[in-house]
Amino acid sequence: MRKHVLVFRELPPDQLARLQAQHEVTVANPRIPAQLPAFRAALATAEGLIGASYPVDEALLAAAPRLRVISSVSVGVDNYALPALAARGILLCHTPGVLDETVADTVFALLMATNRRIVELATLVRDGGWTKNIGEEMFGVDVHGKTLGLLGFGRIGQAIARRAALGFGMPVLYHARRPVDLAVQAPELHGRARHTPLDALLARADIVVAMLPLSGETRGLMGAREFALMKAGAIFVNGGRGATVQEDALLQALDHGTLRAAGLDVFATEPLPMDSPLRRHPKVTALPHIGSATFETRHAMAELATTSLLQALAGERPAAVFDTSTS
Ligand code: DGY
Repeated sequence: MRKHVLVFRELPPDQLARLQAQHEVTVANPRIPAQLPAFRAALATAEGLIGASYPVDEALLAAAPRLRVISSVSVGVDNYALPALAARGILLCHTPGVLDETVADTVFALLMATNRRIVELATLVRDGGWTKNIGEEMFGVDVHGKTLGLLGFGRIGQAIARRAALGFGMPVLYHARRPVDLAVQAPELHGRARHTPLDALLARADIVVAMLPLSGETRGLMGAREFALMKAGAIFVNGGRGATVQEDALLQALDHGTLRAAGLDVFATEPLPMDSPLRRHPKVTALPHIGSATFETRHAMAELATTSLLQALAGERPAAVFDTSTS
């Protein structure tokens, strides 16, 4: 039987067509003011929602009494009111796995850019500032052989660790809730990555990469105390969620501490507000949350999310369901 599906962020045409072949579909993006009334109206009868990057809070859920499944075109689920979903038995699907290597590429690009000052020096050339051989004041620092500290060691963290350990000869320390049995789960990292308490990791790593989901446990995890523990001249990269970092503390560490630079793909508020000091800070390389933003990967995410939604609406159990009861 055809059901009502609300698409709240544009899908690739082939995936939208898959939905339209089986269901009645409303496409309405609530971030576009002109589409907000249609979005609100569609909530009343929608049984399925698919989209990303929009807060699905309790008030929104209350306006969607027939909702049975949400399929998020993201791996992160911090936009969803998880306890309310669990209480109503609404299924939440997401897109783990298909974006791991792409996000790891983005993080590694930031890591290289910050250590070697790529954006700053490319801008110098573009602006006509390369008028003599560069001197020490423009040197960067090596990446190969340096110690990488990873906060979070899920699939994406492990993909970053592989690049670091196998490609750049970097010893890897990781902080996670539990040690990962690398011999079984990631044999290529066995003996190359070590589970390390947070404070010891911060004190020993030359480059700290945060790749954490946002939860009550991780919100604001990197604060003044943690930045102060980092090695003098260390570099901080965030590819997970912005709110895992206290941005004021990061700015203090850059301006008055010994942090060399920061590479950030994610921010507490996105898009980054125009008046954020992080936007133009000389020691910050800021990206507009492009972790998974390649043609191939965004399409794979949309396809997985669409498949999950169709399965759930057909009464089948999709493969990629997030367990909302654990939140
Ligand atoms: C996600 O899917 O949660 C990522 O942040 C996208 O880049």
